[in-house]
Amino acid sequence: MNRVPFVCGNWKMHYGVSEALALADALLPMIEPLAGVEVGIAPTYTALHAVGQRVKGTKLLLSAQNCHFEAQGAYTGEISASMLKDVGCHYVIIGHSERRSLFGETDEGCAKKVAAVLKAGLLPILCVGETLAERDANQTLEVVTRQLTAGLSEVAADQAMTTVVAYEPVWAIGTGRTATPTQAQEVHAHLRKVIAGQLGAGVAEAMRLQYGGSVKAENARDLFGQPDIDGGLIGGAALKADSFAAIVKAAAAG
Ligand code: PGA
Repeated sequence: MNRVPFVCGNWKMHYGVSEALALADALLPMIEPLAGVEVGIAPTYTALHAVGQRVKGTKLLLSAQNCHFEAQGAYTGEISASMLKDVGCHYVIIGHSERRSLFGETDEGCAKKVAAVLKAGLLPILCVGETLAERDANQTLEVVTRQLTAGLSEVAADQAMTTVVAYEPVWAIGTGRTATPTQAQEVHAHLRKVIAGQLGAGVAEAMRLQYGGSVKAENARDLFGQPDIDGGLIGGAALKADSFAAIVKAAAAG
């Protein structure tokens, strides 16, 4: 199957409204002409509405970095998936390792969020990945299998095709240390096998599996050239228009 690669920039807790708009404006002319690739940007919550207005109807798909699993209610400080849809989001990143390690997110909570995102008519990007200690202890496949299986446990097969999974080894995030294309491909192939067992071969073939962790223009082409890597989730290199556009181009060409 020919999967359209998906590259999404995760802006994390960077850029207020005016800086976010400036980055979106700089990206639009670079991204619009590119074919054969889907492109997302995930600004902070406070910039979502303004950026959403700016990119509406363009090739830049508005994405959020997190959400709550309930649709509404007394959850001070939280934002629901339907509220994200309301401001124009298409995708929501769920279970990023920073959320898991710094904010106590669990596999069970991620599963509820994935289901809530789909229920709201949005698409989840479920993040999985092992720590350095887990890799050194040879537990990589076991850890990502647990995170993946749990994260997709409330998803029906007919909804799962459009769900995106991002493999992000924790030791490669923001460290400048990337998994080699071979290391990443090994995990991606494994994840696809697990998805086939859980949701069927058709779903496994259709689902996009992104790689994330110190992706740069220089290493993007080799990573995206792997058979089971369908684009990337980009942190640091997504904060500048030139470097992000170069990564998107690498996916478009691959
Ligand atoms: P990085 O972050 O590209 O800065 O390593 C990736 C991510 O956290 O999604």
